[in-house]
Amino acid sequence: MTHSGQLKSLFSQKLDRAVFGTYFLGSVVPTAALAAVLHRYVLPGLARDSLGAMGMVGVLVGVGGLSLASFFALRRLVRMALARMQADNARLETILGASRELSSALDTHAVADTAAGCALALTDARAAYVLLQGGRGKPLLVCESAGEEPAPLYQRNQELIGEVLDGALASGTPTFLETGESGEELPSAIAVIPMTIAGGLRGAFVLPHARAGAGFPSEQVDALRSLAGLASVAFQNADLQSSQRNFFSHVTEILVVALDAQLDSGDPRAGHPNRVAALANGIGRELELAEEPLQRLHFASLLHDIGYLKIDRALHYDPAQCRSHPTLGYRMLSRIRLWQDVAKVVLHHHEWFDGSGYPESRSGSEIPLESRILAVADVFDKLTHEDFDRPAVGVTEAVEQIRAGAGRQFDPHVVEALGRVVERGDLAA
Ligand SMILES: [Fe+2]
Repeated sequence: MTHSGQLKSLFSQKLDRAVFGTYFLGSVVPTAALAAVLHRYVLPGLARDSLGAMGMVGVLVGVGGLSLASFFALRRLVRMALARMQADNARLETILGASRELSSALDTHAVADTAAGCALALTDARAAYVLLQGGRGKPLLVCESAGEEPAPLYQRNQELIGEVLDGALASGTPTFLETGESGEELPSAIAVIPMTIAGGLRGAFVLPHARAGAGFPSEQVDALRSLAGLASVAFQNADLQSSQRNFFSHVTEILVVALDAQLDSGDPRAGHPNRVAALANGIGRELELAEEPLQRLHFASLLHDIGYLKIDRALHYDPAQCRSHPTLGYRMLSRIRLWQDVAKVVLHHHEWFDGSGYPESRSGSEIPLESRILAVADVFDKLTHEDFDRPAVGVTEAVEQIRAGAGRQFDPHVVEALGRVVERGDLAA
């Protein structure tokens, strides 16, 4: 922000200098040159005719005065135009910044928070509120706000705001109220900008002004309307993402239950996917993974052995059949377009860091990081829980065994992260 502010200032200074230079060379210099020529060659000849000389001097002073007056008037106009241009640029930059933030906002509150802050930055209002509809036909409620003590200000003026809001929602256009008050207790002006998507109401901006005589100039209203359009689309995206998360969470739960239901009672593998997901999440956060790969890791951890659903239960411990489960799981998941990245993590969860794993014998960074984390969490959970053919080992012993495989079976960085998670006693992170 500071950097672009400096750029704009430099641009303004250059433009100002260019206008100054152009006017100086085009008007002041020729006038001065004319005065010098007259003084050197014409006035001496008119010396005897003092009336003619005085007339000539008067003309020169008049031309010079007009030139200077034009210069100052032009300079003032240029500065006003530049100030207006800078304000427009600042608004545009605020909207562009908000657009970037809104497009990456993951949920409704993040969108509302960004929109409220941006609305406040676009105006001189005392506070900005984003109101959203709780459901079809339900009243608008404040979701997020920004500014100076927004909650008490809203409560004090709830009735007045309600009136403006009703007017804006009825007309579907920005609506304003000027109270003519000082603005300390009662806002001097209130603006409500509705947010609509596909013709339907999604919410509204509410902005109260505090200063007496302050209002909402047309350029601010235009900027707020643009912001309302961007925010409406961002709210729709957030709603879609929320529906997707809800869908995937429940489908995953159904698949994990199906996987568990396939096991005999007392099978040590029961509960394994959920425990692996919890540990993988802890390791992923220890490695400072972003939210998107963490979500991918979470779903892949829950579904990493889903390929066993395609293998006859009597053959679950057959080595050849067992080696096919990552590929079978990949084929099941990769058909769902939005799960293709999750499917890749599942495909590679039995690769070894030195390239001796399966199914593709990938090594090092050729294996997705989430698969390397999943591999460590998977083996840790297997070691710390008994199986038909071996007893469980303690946490310390499990970490030691995994450390012994660092660089061979496991990614050393992931093993170190596991060590730190275990040392903190944060196994259910
Ligand atoms: Fe597996």
